[in-house]
Amino acid sequence: MMGNIKHPQPEKIPQHVAIIMDGNGRWALSRGKPRLAGHRAGTENLRRIIQASVEFGVKYLTIYAFSTENWGRPPAEIKGLMHIFENVIDKELNELHKEGVQLRHIGRLEKLSPKLRKKVLGAIELTKENNKLILNIAFNYGGRDEIVYAIQKMITEGVSPEEVNIEMMSQYLFTAGTPDPDLVIRTSGELRTSNFLIWQSAYAEWYITPTFWPDFDKEEYGKALKTYATRDRRFGGVSEEHYE
Ligand code: IPE
Ligand code: IPE
Ligand code: MG
Repeated sequence: MMGNIKHPQPEKIPQHVAIIMDGNGRWALSRGKPRLAGHRAGTENLRRIIQASVEFGVKYLTIYAFSTENWGRPPAEIKGLMHIFENVIDKELNELHKEGVQLRHIGRLEKLSPKLRKKVLGAIELTKENNKLILNIAFNYGGRDEIVYAIQKMITEGVSPEEVNIEMMSQYLFTAGTPDPDLVIRTSGELRTSNFLIWQSAYAEWYITPTFWPDFDKEEYGKALKTYATRDRRFGGVSEEHYE
C-alpha cells in the first residue's frame, strides 16, 4: 500500500500522553514507610506532571489511578486510595480550574461511593469549558471492562452488525472523541499493559522506566518525550527513508 508512505510525520511533541503511575508501594517500602505514604507522594508528583504537561504542550494527559483489578487489594489500601482521590479533588480542583485544565473521567463511576461520585461529577462540570489540557482520570478503569460496556451499549441501542466498525467501536468507549494516545509511559519497570487503554494504545509508542512514580519528575518526563521524538512511527506502513 503506497499510501502509507505518505503518512504525515507525527508532531514531535505527543498530542496525547497516557501514564501508568506505578511503583508507589515499592517507593514507600524502600523508605520504610506504609504503602499509603507512597500513594500520597504519588499524588504530589501528579501535580508536577500535570504542570509539566502544560509547559511541554501536551494536549491530552490520561492517568491510570485505579484499575478494575485494584479492588483485589486489601480493604484498608482501597479505602485509603478512595480517600486520597477525594482529597485531591478537594485540594486541587480550584487550582486546576484556574490553569485551564479540563477534567474527565474514564471507567465506571457506579462502584464509587455517592460522595466521591458527586465530587467527580462536580469537577467535570466545573471544568468542562477548559481547554489548556484535557486530563482524563482513569479511576475504576479497565480496558476489558470498557470494551464489554461498549458492546452492551451497542446492543441496547439496537446497533446492527453491519454498522459495527473500528470507528464506531472507538465512539462507544469511555474515551470517545479523544485521539488515541501517542505515548504510553509506565513507571517502575513492569513490562505489561495491566489492562490500560488496550484498544486505544494499538499504535502507541511505549516508554518504560525503572523509576518509581513518586520520583518521576519533570526531567524524567522530558527524557520520555525526547525518546518519543526519535521514534519512527510507521503504523504498519513504510517510512520514506526505508523506501528506495
Ligand atoms: C500504583 O502503585 C498505584 C495504584 C495501583 C493505585 P502501586 O500501588 O501499584 O505500587 P507497587 O506497584 O505496589 O509498587
Ligand atoms: C496498574 O498498576 C494500575 C495503576 C497504576 C492504577 P498495578 O500495580 O495495579 O498493575 P500490576 O498488578 O502490577 O499489573
Ligand atoms: Mg503496581
